[in-house]
Amino acid sequence: MSLPESSRYQFTPDMRICRILNGMWQVSGAHGRIDPQRAVEQMFVYHDAGFTTWDLADHYGPAEDFIGRFRREFSARHGENRLAEIQAFTKWVPHPGRMTRPVVEAAVSVSLARMGVAALDLIQFHWWDYGDRNYLDALKHLADLQHEGRIRHLALTNFDTERLRIITDNGIRIVSNQVQYSLVDRRPEVQMASYCRQHGITLLAYGTVLGGLLSEKYLGQPEPRRAELNTASLQKYKDMIDGWGGWALFQELLATLKPIADKHRVSIANVGVRYIIDRPAVAGVIVGTRLGVAEHLADNARAFDFTLDTEDHARIEAVLAKSRDLFKMIGDCGDEYR
Ligand SMILES: NC(=O)c1ccc[n+]([C@@H]2O[C@H](COP(=O)([O-])OP(=O)(O)OC[C@H]3O[C@@H](n4cnc5c(N)ncnc54)[C@H](OP(=O)(O)O)[C@@H]3O)[C@@H](O)[C@H]2O)c1
Repeated sequence: MSLPESSRYQFTPDMRICRILNGMWQVSGAHGRIDPQRAVEQMFVYHDAGFTTWDLADHYGPAEDFIGRFRREFSARHGENRLAEIQAFTKWVPHPGRMTRPVVEAAVSVSLARMGVAALDLIQFHWWDYGDRNYLDALKHLADLQHEGRIRHLALTNFDTERLRIITDNGIRIVSNQVQYSLVDRRPEVQMASYCRQHGITLLAYGTVLGGLLSEKYLGQPEPRRAELNTASLQKYKDMIDGWGGWALFQELLATLKPIADKHRVSIANVGVRYIIDRPAVAGVIVGTRLGVAEHLADNARAFDFTLDTEDHARIEAVLAKSRDLFKMIGDCGDEYR
């Protein structure tokens, strides 16, 4: 399997990425046990198939260490020169408090060491409490570290439009904001996407396949009980579906997506991913991967084989129009965390 050219995206002038990123929250322990050796071996399979871009975080269990180990083994097999084929996007999710240069530098140094890189490709910064304006100090120190060559690009995760504007107005160059974005959660369309487009910022979407709920596996199925949802993702997105319109409406959505998927000879998950990849400002969609436990590589590759037509969009919109307004209920991007 090799992915078509349309799977690549010029994310920054110096970096092309795969538009489906491999999400590593799934190795954190909250989604079942992961065997490190098998996981790293599986990373080669993803990479060789063209899925070269990884999304991780300082707090996703061993994710940063897996990148370090993968890079070491990759270099041994293929030579150091080819390491540039790998893009590894980490996050920094600090506890609130004063953000001095030593605090910020220490966090970045840990990620550099764990991942075995001289510079982080991307650091996506998360902040829990907007009442605490220290986030601007943290970002200014990150920008200094960027100028010193230890970070290639600065990004955010789960920031709302208001704070993204404040950060941009403070002269900090942000390349992307990672937010929840799916057929169920379209809050980024209210104001985030247009702000991003105006300012040359892209979106990295997560939760797009709703932990696997957006698939044939759940089509025509009774509402799952919480105990049956065996990963943190499934539980998270089931809650989102409940707020959005409930299981009956979600079944209507799956039943609408199925003939669209059949028409294009793809899967329901592919339709959900394609829909989001084609939205304004979106650079890529992150799909979580339980490395060494389950994989959907061949299926996810098909998201690059088709496009949705006007009729498909009209049928999808007709169902989505029946849902509740999550922006009104929860607020802008990331407000579910605050
Ligand atoms: N910034 C943030 O706050 C934040 C929050 C959440 C996630 N994320 C990022 O986004 C990534 C994705 O996580 P997520 O929680 O949003 O999970 P997700 O991508 O919505 O769901 C991942 C799960 O979906 C299933 N799946 C994947 N492809 C499929 C396909 N083609 N057909 C059917 N099922 C498929 C797999 O389930 P099985 O393994 O059971 O087969 C997989 O484990 C994370 O790893 C992380 O990198 C970021």
